[in-house]
Amino acid sequence: MSETATITIDGNSYEYPVISGTEGEKAIDVRKLRADSGYITYDDGYGNTGSCLSDITFINGEVGILRHRGIPIEELAGQASFLGTAFLVIYGHLPSQEEYVHFSQQVAGNAAMPDDFRHHFNGFPSDAHPMAVLSAMLNAAGCCHSEMTSNDREQDMEHFDQAAALLISKVRTIAAMSYRMSQGLPFVAPRLDAPYVDDFLHMMFSTEEKDYEPTPEIAKAMDLFFLLHADHEQNCSTSTVRMVASGGANLFASVSAGVSALWGPLHGGANTAVVKMLQSIHDSGDDGSQFIEDAKTGKARLMGFGHRVYKNYDPRAKILGGAAEEILNSLGHDDPLLDIARHLEKAALEDEYFVKRKLYPNVDFYSGLILKAVGIPVEMFTVMFAIGRMPGWIANWREIATGSSRIHRPRQVYTGKVDQHFVPVEER
Ligand code: ACO
Repeated sequence: MSETATITIDGNSYEYPVISGTEGEKAIDVRKLRADSGYITYDDGYGNTGSCLSDITFINGEVGILRHRGIPIEELAGQASFLGTAFLVIYGHLPSQEEYVHFSQQVAGNAAMPDDFRHHFNGFPSDAHPMAVLSAMLNAAGCCHSEMTSNDREQDMEHFDQAAALLISKVRTIAAMSYRMSQGLPFVAPRLDAPYVDDFLHMMFSTEEKDYEPTPEIAKAMDLFFLLHADHEQNCSTSTVRMVASGGANLFASVSAGVSALWGPLHGGANTAVVKMLQSIHDSGDDGSQFIEDAKTGKARLMGFGHRVYKNYDPRAKILGGAAEEILNSLGHDDPLLDIARHLEKAALEDEYFVKRKLYPNVDFYSGLILKAVGIPVEMFTVMFAIGRMPGWIANWREIATGSSRIHRPRQVYTGKVDQHFVPVEER
């Protein structure tokens, strides 16, 4: 017999099915609750609300597990590339050799921006935030492909493979162009024969005199960074993408909204905030001890710590902590910010305030130190997150576009004024 849950309200009982996920997660299916009882559920921040059924990513935050399409993140980080992981996340299986070559070629072939598109960048002030530029330009890129942006699900899906490869490619070109624009530097054309990360760094850092060639360690660290950001189930930006997609909007419009959602410091903006925090701790002469005290009294927030889902170590933070150490060693850099980060981590993990609240380092705690070592400017950190997250947004858009999802339209509990009447302006 299938499991049910009974909800009793005002002496009336209502029975609802219990849905089980493939990893044993349970949910009460309350879709008929309001029709049956007149009540809705209230869940500020959606901490107890399952907004969808999804096959893409599984997280068990209590023990620190993250799997894409069933494969642990540790295995992907050790053996796959970012593009291989992107394929897995989007299409649901690891690519065969042939599929990988085809996908990589499709991505590489889409790196260039059309000439008539470049002038759009001139419309931004040179100090425009690169996340604003990225969001606007992704939507603008869709304007060059009306066949992929019809807002007709069937038609948009006919062009899905091209659109997915194009976005994974162009997000990095747009990112590099916005950086060059902010520096007053001319744009650099992509090198179609270069691997994904190498081409990105070439578009960022090559000069007229010299093509930028990353060391194998730098290329590996950047690829790992992108891979570890590929997807993370129903976070703020991915839920936004699904929300926009649920209204029938095309892939470009939906991921553009995802970029905006990612921007905030409580989400993707945290990687920028972490490095700024570490720098200001360093500049103040503190080793992190005073900062921990300030975080406990609410005077400061320990950025890169805490997570809505992880109540244990974020497995990505573990991998990135080791990678930060490796890349700094390989470059022969001794970054005092890494020492402060290690000290903050140790102090927090031993402190009752953080232990009681189950606050552990999240993905952003060490990622900024890697980006800093590679030479990515701080203002671009959240853009790097967006490049990495593109496959997850695309995969989630696809689930909506090919599923039977209804438009996402939560309800609310109204707490405003009642029984008011219009007052003519002269009487106010
Ligand atoms: N530093 C100090 N105290 C914290 C922190 C932190 N980083 N995070 C949570 N707390 C405290 C809260 O003050 C609260 O304490 P209280 O119970 O005494 O009121 C308790 O821990 C629970 O925190 P909430 O804010 O309710 O947790 P929530 O799930 O809403 O927020 C969030 C999660 C936004 C990630 C939060 O932990 C935070 O602000 N962290 C710092 C920003 C950050 O690193 N964001 C990146 C997240 S990962 C990502 O999006 C890619």
